[in-house]
Amino acid sequence: MFVDLRESWWIRGVEIPTRVVLAPMAGVSVQAFRRQGRRFGAGLVCSEMVSCAGIEHRNERTLGYLRVAADEHPLAIQIFGSDPRAMAEAARMVVAAGADLVDINFGCPVRKVTKTGAGATLLDDPARAGGIVEAVATAVDVPVSVKMRRGLRDGSRTCLEVGPMLVEAGAATLTLHPRSAQQMYTGTADHALTAELVSLVDVPVIASGDVTSRAKAQSVLATTGAAAVMVGRGAQGNPWAIRQIVDGETGEPTREEVVAELVLFIRETVRELGERRAASFLKKFYGWYLGRGRFPRQFKQELVVLDSTEEVERLLIAAAPGALPLLELLEDEVPSGDEVLLDLPISIYGGG
Ligand SMILES: Cc1cc2nc3c(=O)[nH]c(=O)nc-3n(C[C@H](O)[C@H](O)[C@H](O)COP(=O)(O)O)c2cc1C
Repeated sequence: MFVDLRESWWIRGVEIPTRVVLAPMAGVSVQAFRRQGRRFGAGLVCSEMVSCAGIEHRNERTLGYLRVAADEHPLAIQIFGSDPRAMAEAARMVVAAGADLVDINFGCPVRKVTKTGAGATLLDDPARAGGIVEAVATAVDVPVSVKMRRGLRDGSRTCLEVGPMLVEAGAATLTLHPRSAQQMYTGTADHALTAELVSLVDVPVIASGDVTSRAKAQSVLATTGAAAVMVGRGAQGNPWAIRQIVDGETGEPTREEVVAELVLFIRETVRELGERRAASFLKKFYGWYLGRGRFPRQFKQELVVLDSTEEVERLLIAAAPGALPLLELLEDEVPSGDEVLLDLPISIYGGG
C-alpha cells in the first residue's frame, strides 16, 4: 500500500498538511529547527519540553524561554509535570502563546525528570496519567496529544493498556515511540506495537522511532496504519531528509545550501538564546550539518573550538562564498517580528 505523504490529515479541528511530524527533542528543537522543519515539509512541529514546575518555582536550570513565531504553525508545545492542576495551568499558558496543540510528555526516560514523577514514569501510574490528560483537556479548547514510550522496562506492553485510557480521558492523538524507557535510544523501535495501538484506539496515532528515509516512512505507515510518522534524529542537521521523505526528492544538498541553512540556523538561534548560550548550544550542530561527507572532518574541528558564532559564520562563508545569495533569499523568506514569548522555561533535560 502506497501512502501519499503530502496528503493532509486532521487532529480534531487542526489540519496537518503532510504526514511527517518533526519530533520534539530537548537541546535541539529550538525555534530555528522548528521553522526549518516546516519549510522543508514537516506538517507539524513540536517544541522542546517546557516545565510546568516553572509555574510554581523558578529556580531550576533552564535553557531559556520559548518563542513562538508566525511561520511555525501548526505547532505543538510540549509540557511535562506530574501535578494535574499545574499541568492544566501550563496548558492554558501554552495555548495563550499560540500552541495549536498541547502535547504531554509521558516518554522522558531521564532520571532527573522521572524522579519527580513526570515523563515515562507516569506510564506506571495510569490513574495519575489519566488525571493529567483529563485536567489538561478540560482546561483548553485545542486538541491534546500525548507522547509516550512502550513502557518502562524492556518488553513492556504498557502503552497498549494506558493508550486507550488516555484517549478516554481526552487525548485527541497519541504518539508512540515503541522503545522502553530502560532502552533509552538503544535497540530498535518495535512498530509492531504501534500497529497494535492503532487497532485499539479511534484517534490518529503518530509513529516515532527510526524513521530516516522515505522507504522506512512508507513501510511504517503501511504496516501500522498510523496517520503520520515522526522524524527526530534523522533531521538533526539534515532538513533535506524531511524533503526526501515527504517528496521523494533525492540528491544531496550542495555545500552552498548546507552553509546557507547552517548560517541562518546560527543567526536565528543567537537571536533566540543570546550569543553566550547559543555559542555552546550550537557546537553539536556543526558536526551534524557538515558531516555526511559534506565537508572534511577537520573543518568541523576548526569550528567547534571557536568562541564566537561570528567567527564560525566567517569561516563557513569563506568555505562556500556562493552561500551568501542563498542566505539572503532565505532571510527574506523568514518573517520577522510578531513573536510571542512564553513565560515558561524550556527544560534542559528531556527525552522521550
Ligand atoms: C536529543 C533528544 C532529545 C529528545 N527530547 C525529547 C523531548 O523533550 N520530548 C519528547 O517527547 N521526546 C524527546 N525525544 C525523543 C524523540 O522525540 C523521538 O521520539 C525519538 O528520538 C525516536 O525518534 P528518532 O528515531 O526519529 O530519533 C528526544 C530524542 C533525542 C534524540
